[in-house]
Amino acid sequence: MLRTHTCGELRINDVKNVVTLCGWLQKSRDLGGMTFIDLRDRYGITQLVFNMESSAELCEKARKLGREFVLKVSGIVSERSNKNKNLATGEIEIIVNELTVLNSSETPPFTIEDNSDGGDDLRAKFRYLDIRRNPVKNNLLLRARMATETRNFLSNQKFIEVETPVLIKSTPEGARDFVVPSRMNQGQFYALPQSPQTFKQLLMVAGMDRYYQIVKCFRDEDLRADRQPEFTQIDCEMSFVDQEDVLQLFEQMVKHLFKTVKGVDIEPLQRITFSEAIKQYGSDKPDTRFEMKFVELTELVKGKNFPVFDNAEIVVGICAKSCAEYTRKQLDELTEFVKKPQIGASGLVYARVNSDGSIKSSVDKFYTADDLQEWVNAFDAKPGDLLLILAGQNEETKKALCELRLEMGTRLGLRDANKFSCLWVLDFPLLEFNEEENRYFAMHHPFTSPKPEDILLLDTKPKEVRANAYDMVINGVEVGGGSIRIFNKELQSKMFGILGFTKEEAQNQFGFLMNAFEYGAPPHGGIAFGFDRLCSLFGGENSIRDFIAFPKNNSGRDVMIDAPSAIDGKQLGELGLGVK
Ligand code: AMO
Repeated sequence: MLRTHTCGELRINDVKNVVTLCGWLQKSRDLGGMTFIDLRDRYGITQLVFNMESSAELCEKARKLGREFVLKVSGIVSERSNKNKNLATGEIEIIVNELTVLNSSETPPFTIEDNSDGGDDLRAKFRYLDIRRNPVKNNLLLRARMATETRNFLSNQKFIEVETPVLIKSTPEGARDFVVPSRMNQGQFYALPQSPQTFKQLLMVAGMDRYYQIVKCFRDEDLRADRQPEFTQIDCEMSFVDQEDVLQLFEQMVKHLFKTVKGVDIEPLQRITFSEAIKQYGSDKPDTRFEMKFVELTELVKGKNFPVFDNAEIVVGICAKSCAEYTRKQLDELTEFVKKPQIGASGLVYARVNSDGSIKSSVDKFYTADDLQEWVNAFDAKPGDLLLILAGQNEETKKALCELRLEMGTRLGLRDANKFSCLWVLDFPLLEFNEEENRYFAMHHPFTSPKPEDILLLDTKPKEVRANAYDMVINGVEVGGGSIRIFNKELQSKMFGILGFTKEEAQNQFGFLMNAFEYGAPPHGGIAFGFDRLCSLFGGENSIRDFIAFPKNNSGRDVMIDAPSAIDGKQLGELGLGVK
């Protein structure tokens, strides 16, 4: 080893020891007679002292070093007169008597500090320098810790890690595939896995019983803060289980992660059905850190000659506690918020419940005091509360109110990143109808089983069939989803039929799976967690990008290596993709 200790390790007990450290020059201060250098590595920072009196030559050498030079120093640990309580090593310093410059460095394009002066683009281009900064480094350490604890938990539960291939055939998870041309089979393409779904099911047919993999998945879809084109799943599958077994086991896994990584005991997971979630929160991934549930007023408010309500399919609202004092300006802001194109509401109706119990609404013209009192009763609102009401088409209005609820939660400080509210969303519909393509799509994926009691509805009322499918939601983020699978060839082929595949198409695309089902497929089910999302939640942030060592930007580019990029004509020719 080039060093005896790391830069985060030495304490007062080490005083008088001779040590050797290696690291990067974080900061240097020249005080004439003395030069101080902060030496940094992954573990921390240690102060080095070069003394003009005892070694002028060394001190001169130290003065010339620039930021981010790579150094090796030997010296004696001594107690600092000026202790730094903010630093783990702040009680000591090293009186250096040997200095080797292992490498020089260009001046970095931004400061390697917790609050860097570098913008997003610059930091992405020099990601290896960005990772030297504590906030990014700590995110990667957190991620590594989470992966280790995931492996600990799952291997204790007898799951084995199996690697599945990356060059495969399309797996239908609802996004576009990334494809890879085959040189040896010209004109043909591999797809990169959107998930290892079919392989993990084949591993169950193969008798592996409990499988997991921390695995890269690839989806060519529009990017958002919580979506990357390549991301990581904790992918799991189990044989001989029902839904309850899967829910219990993975609730334990998430508890284990919270306990071991964050030292947090989480409450037993709440459970809510998909239809309740939509009714109460307008979303299948509700943020349940706060209540503010939807209250439907459709019947109550109709017939009073207020056309907006009279013509609406649904009138629905939320009660914002203690917000009756909102100013005109604040209410205008909320109205602007709901009218933004991405929210899409046409307007906002409000009613203040004043401290004396009187009610003042934006539609007083149409509603009497008694009418308004009925609204207040429906919301169980108290003096000081503010009712916010939207009206329109069912789905769109609920979606808009969901956004307004989240906005109010944020404004009222109810979405604390250090508070965790975890729940299972159950009983998803099996199918959703796509108007554009005029056919049904699997809401989860085509291998998800219908609830046995709903199978008969498959032919008559497919929309009403519920799936044995579940999502885990934490603080409004879908962190995982899975299902109990179909393991019977007839039912699987019926499912493909409902999804509009001809027999030949189904055989072509998924013959390998249906054939495997002929050879004794066990009942099985599983789940996959979005590992990047879990990490960012644990780290208290919304964007997954800073929990990925080398992420892509919003246009799907890696600006550091400049990918994707053109390839030369020769390579294209070899792949059979050249200009003919
Ligand atoms: P699903 O498609 O729901 O299920 O994906 C599982 C979880 O992966 C995360 N996720 C993403 N994270 C970051 N970027 C993305 N682009 C992205 N897409 C999805 C989400 C999601 O909950 N094979 C099934 C699982 C199963 O049935 O067992 C599947 O992939 O957190």
